[in-house]
Order: sequence, then C-alpha cells, then structure tokens
Amino acid sequence: MTDLAYVNGQFLPAENAVISINDRGLQFGDSVYEVVKAYGDKPVLMDEHILRLERSAHALNISLNGIIEEIDRIVPEGLQRTGFSQTIIYIQLTRGTQPRNLIFDKTIKPNLIATFRPYGLDLASMRSNGIKVSLYPDIRWAHCDLKTTNLLGNVLMKNKANDEGCFEAILFTEDGRVSEACSSSVFVVKNGVLLTTPSSENILPGVNRKYVIDIVAPQLGIPVREEHTFKDDLFTADEVFLTSTTFLVMPVIEVAGQQIANGKPGPITMSLVEQFEKNIHN
Ligand SMILES: Cc1ncc(COP(=O)(O)O)c(C=O)c1O
Repeated sequence: MTDLAYVNGQFLPAENAVISINDRGLQFGDSVYEVVKAYGDKPVLMDEHILRLERSAHALNISLNGIIEEIDRIVPEGLQRTGFSQTIIYIQLTRGTQPRNLIFDKTIKPNLIATFRPYGLDLASMRSNGIKVSLYPDIRWAHCDLKTTNLLGNVLMKNKANDEGCFEAILFTEDGRVSEACSSSVFVVKNGVLLTTPSSENILPGVNRKYVIDIVAPQLGIPVREEHTFKDDLFTADEVFLTSTTFLVMPVIEVAGQQIANGKPGPITMSLVEQFEKNIHN
C-alpha cells in the first residue's frame, strides 16, 4: 500500500494529493496540525490530540464546524485502507483558500488534509543506544503552545542538529532556561525526580509529556516536578530524556558533544519506556 492522503472529503494516493496555491496554510503557515501514531487500527492518545487541535484552532479562530466529526470518521477509515502495522497520521487544518491577503476572510471554509504513512523509525535500536542532541537558543515565535505550521525555527534548528550528527536539538530561552526540543518535550532526571519545563507559551503542551507526568511516572512511583531547568542542569543531570508522539520516551546520552552521566540510557528513563509501552499495548 502506498502512502494515503485525504484532502477535503477525498482519499487518494499521497503523491496525487494537491491543494490550491491560495491556501493560507501554504502562504502564511495559517494552519494547525496534529501528528498521531497508530498501532494497527488503534491511534494512541487520540482524544488528547483532538483536544489540543481544538485548542489550537480556537486560539487562531479557525472554524471547527463539522471538522472533529470528519476527523473521527476519516482516521479509522484511513487506517483500514492502509493496513500498516504502525502508522503516522498527519492531520492539518488550514484556515482555507482565498487570494493572498494577510487579512483573512472570516467566511472561508477550512481545508482538512491528512496523510497516513508507515512508521519509519527503528525505535528499539535508538532506545538501546540513546540519542545525541544539540543545544541552541530558541529562535521561535511567542506562541509555541499552539500547534501551528509556523515551524521555520524548528525546521532550521533541527536541520542544523542533523548536520552536526544529532537527532534533535534542545532549545533554551534568553535567560538560559530549557524550553523544549524542536519536535519533542524535555525531561531532566535529578536525584530520582523528573523535572520538566512548566507549561507556558514557550512550549507545546506535549501529549506524551502529560501522559508521562500524569500516568506513567505515578505508576512507577517516580516524583515529577514541573520546574524550570537551565542549560547547565542538562550536563549535571543523572539522565535526560525526550518525549513525543513519534518515539514516546527517548533516552539522551549526549548534549552538545558532552556525555550525560555514563553516556548510556539511564535506568529511570528505560523504566518509563517499558511502562509506557506496556500501557499502550494493553
Ligand atoms: C515543539 C514540539 N514540542 C513537543 C512535541 C511533543 O508533543 P507530543 O508529545 O504531543 O507529540 C512536539 C511534537 O511534535 C513538538 O513539535
């Protein structure tokens, strides 16, 4: 099965899917999105992704009239049509189509786009080796809490990290506080406690971040504090790990060329990996 797309009411092969050059998502990044992973026909944490999509769309004043019902219909259908064992579902809702103008027409209808692609990461080996990350000033805009397609900062920083042989980049604000990573949330483990950046406009409220805080860590009796950490805390951490939809929990073994602890995935991180996996497969 080839990659599948859905554009405004129609499923078709992804390579044939097109959208107008007047789409505001294309012209201005005037759109919101979600990425959801599915195992077989089961999307992971779908309700949480939908809640966040609603929140992002409301903040941008993008109309959701009938959209959530449409997503609820097309996600199972897309998964059934593709039949991949693991799927990455990309859902994007743009404000709509109109001749280019910063001022949006309040009457336009949003464009709903989705793709269904097979999951491509070798998670087992990435987790057993751990990943290396870069460390950069956070150059993004002031509303990182909204999941919009304004991702140029993320794109540039993640590519720079890749060019340096790293899988991700951890970002810090002007005062040296860790915010998050280009496409994942950051946790620091210190003296048996998980520390992660408090929710604010500086970070995306990660679905997997929340699941670790609310469910996985409490199941294991691991305390969590939503508290700022600084760049230097990364280097003195017992463990560092990232969370995201595409890899759930991922151990970090090196930050900006410096080894973290003994340079191996840490025991607390790996216990979270195991418990998280157990939860979603039950
Ligand atoms: C900037 C950013 N932070 C954090 C995350 C992790 O969020 P989630 O756990 O909901 O995938 C993402 C995911 O794409 C992201 O783009």
